[in-house]
Amino acid sequence: MNQLAHPTIRKFDAIIVGAGGAGLRAAIQLSESGLKTAVISKVFPTRSHTVAAQGGVAASLGNSEEDSWQWHMYDTVKGSDWLGDQDAIEFMCRKANEVVVELEHYGMPFDRLENGKIYQRPFGGHMSNFGEKPVRRACAAADRTGHAMLHAMYQRNVRANTQFFVEWMALDLIRDIDGQVLGVTAMEMETGEVVIFQAKATLFATGGAGRIYYSSTNAFINTGDGLGMAARAGIPLEDMEFWQFHPTGVAGAGVLITEGVRGEGGILRNSTGERFMERYAPNAKDLASRDVVSRAMATEIKEGRGCGPDKDYLLLDLTHLDPKTIMQRLPGIREISLQFAGTDPIKESIPVVPTCHYMMGGIPTNYHGQVVVTKDGRHDAVVPGFYAAGECACASVHGANRLGTNSLLDLLVFGKSAGESMVSDIKAMPAAHKELPQDGSDLARSRLARLENQQSGANVHEVQLAMRRVMQDHCGVFRFPDMLAQGVTKILEVEKQVMVTEIRDKSQVFNTARLEALELDNLIEVAKATMVSAEARRESRGAQAREDFPDRDDANWLKHTLWHREGNRLDFKPVQMKPLSVDSIELKKRVY
Ligand code: FUM
Repeated sequence: MNQLAHPTIRKFDAIIVGAGGAGLRAAIQLSESGLKTAVISKVFPTRSHTVAAQGGVAASLGNSEEDSWQWHMYDTVKGSDWLGDQDAIEFMCRKANEVVVELEHYGMPFDRLENGKIYQRPFGGHMSNFGEKPVRRACAAADRTGHAMLHAMYQRNVRANTQFFVEWMALDLIRDIDGQVLGVTAMEMETGEVVIFQAKATLFATGGAGRIYYSSTNAFINTGDGLGMAARAGIPLEDMEFWQFHPTGVAGAGVLITEGVRGEGGILRNSTGERFMERYAPNAKDLASRDVVSRAMATEIKEGRGCGPDKDYLLLDLTHLDPKTIMQRLPGIREISLQFAGTDPIKESIPVVPTCHYMMGGIPTNYHGQVVVTKDGRHDAVVPGFYAAGECACASVHGANRLGTNSLLDLLVFGKSAGESMVSDIKAMPAAHKELPQDGSDLARSRLARLENQQSGANVHEVQLAMRRVMQDHCGVFRFPDMLAQGVTKILEVEKQVMVTEIRDKSQVFNTARLEALELDNLIEVAKATMVSAEARRESRGAQAREDFPDRDDANWLKHTLWHREGNRLDFKPVQMKPLSVDSIELKKRVY
């Protein structure tokens, strides 16, 4: 199909794969330091999935009421069901105000209070005074915070001369014999040309993989490309059993309705009109953490109190709110509701169901954004030249359940810290690039050859659908032992189909069929890692709710899983319970 045997080599100081919030934030750090920086993205940067983030970014600015990073840290550890690493959590919560103010200085159009300060709204699980009552911590630009953030950071990158390769798909990592990462192979989507992007430092900021599920708030581009590439390059994936189901996806469509709706006073109701969250979380009610709310909703539906002819959704009621609040603070939600549910939330409630939203696990990193693996018995050996940030990474600040608005914070804080690490590591390296290994592009080449040569194989769309069905049915909000065991078998059967997918129309414009097949290679790695890790973890913690092991089991399971592609096996590493400068937040029962 092209010049695969002798691909062009393009050299940069730094390469970033992914142009969402984490990638753009890291790129600012690199380009403003004068380093030659390339960002590779499947879509135009401002169309990256960060654009879909609605409700806000967490920071304890305390603009409306007293707040502190220590309270934020406590809420995040509790939200994580104590699986989050407390050093990384302290780092993130302490840095929050700084990165939000920086963003303001980049021109981010936050909503404002009367006194001109950034507007903040309450969000699930964010409380004052160590869990006492909801606090206004989410800094918002109406209900389009991610959109505003991407534009502000893209413009800053243009000013800093970051080089963008738009509509390029990264295919595989290049590592040398010492395990050092030297860049990636990537394909230009329009022409099919494959190029080696060589760099002294490579950052993955490829976002999530929510498209492993049938029903998802995620964009179609969220296919776990970074995770697939990392797994194929021998990097394990951490805590992949933990997937967040957002309580309020539009029923039947999956489109996100921000938790900010409940932050502004929206209420969840069942078919009897009851505000059922009062029974499940008497203190925080509708603003309990997401895993708690999603489980409550699934229970209401299971017990017959769902709404509609099939009793399969619940209602998000805003009709008691002042229409001015909806028009000013939630205009996007009104539009989504009109378009996708056919209801005007000023007059009628929105039909909603828990929908796959966010991957808590990912490529293991430390809080400097460096990828870390096990080597010689040590769990924190840095992979030279390799960094990850944002949803594809696991720092781990979200543990078993992420708090809303901590995702935008995560990508700002760890995008910046990864960028800083890359700058200092690159500056300490020799000026010349290392020699590329002879077989640097072999993996990408053999994957493409497999697709080109396959005759009478499986259809990409049918295999994708089979994978999504297995994940949805076998690894959802509640998990059952027999379903998980069957799920492992079934996902391995789907994998066999992935290996024989065929590109029917090999001449397609923009290579879309090829791209979808390549994306499927990545999705299946994420799906396997998820199913195997969920089946293995014999406890309920955060987003992992097992029917056969209903309680958290700190004695046996206060540890991270690490899934290895080779051998489809797990190993484990301890949770970092020691923060950087304050006392540990001790284990206790998690109630809201
Ligand atoms: O509900 C939301 O606006 C989503 C925010 C998040 O996932 O952090």
